[in-house]
Amino acid sequence: MALKIGILGSGHVGSALERAWTAKGHEIKFGKRGSSNAQAALSAQVVVLTVPWPAAQEAIRDCGDLTGKILVDCTNPLAPDLQGLTVGLTTSAAEQVAAWAPGAKVVKAFNTIGAVNMGNADFKGVPADGFYCGDDAVAKNVVAGLVRDAGMNPVDVGPLRNARLLEPLAMLWIDLAVNQKQGPNHAFKLLRR
Ligand SMILES: NC(=O)c1ccc[n+]([C@@H]2O[C@H](COP(=O)([O-])OP(=O)(O)OC[C@H]3O[C@@H](n4cnc5c(N)ncnc54)[C@H](OP(=O)(O)O)[C@@H]3O)[C@@H](O)[C@H]2O)c1
Repeated sequence: MALKIGILGSGHVGSALERAWTAKGHEIKFGKRGSSNAQAALSAQVVVLTVPWPAAQEAIRDCGDLTGKILVDCTNPLAPDLQGLTVGLTTSAAEQVAAWAPGAKVVKAFNTIGAVNMGNADFKGVPADGFYCGDDAVAKNVVAGLVRDAGMNPVDVGPLRNARLLEPLAMLWIDLAVNQKQGPNHAFKLLRR
């Protein structure tokens, strides 16, 4: 089903998702601060947060009332030197986002893979996993479709509080890419038997 999607932030993640989802027939509006964020959110069924963590609260505040909308949180609350997270263990960025947007159906997704792999997630015939978590089953189902539309295999990892686990997993991806200088061409896969 084609969706109206408002993407807050048009950087690496926002533009990669916009390209992938436009190709699948979704209608995208970007929010770029202030009234532009409000416009992007207004008619959207799904609002996607792709701003740096320090800008997250303001971007959500710009949108006004998000009650009933699906709010996809792609952020990672990174320390400025990329050496760790500034939120975690007893809460998560996603739970903080949910507190800032009461009434929105928050789903954490797209945070454990590099932007260059979004819409380009084929690893020698195997699609990268796109982990997501949230508390609303209908919203999660919609986000699973958007994960698929970005070329990834959707993997439901449980309630929103499991963002406490997904955000450190993103830190592992970043550490391999940046601190261990392996570049962005890797992704996580959950194996089952
Ligand atoms: N890069 C990755 O591979 C990756 C992967 C997964 C998750 N993430 C997470 O996703 C988020 C975005 O990462 P990114 O790499 O896409 O960052 P980025 O390239 O720096 O892009 C961030 C975008 O947000 C915009 N922005 C800043 N404040 C805003 C506001 N108040 N309202 C609307 N837009 C605002 C920026 O605009 P200006 O340029 O005008 O400042 C820019 O377009 C971060 O939380 C990051 O941790 C990143």
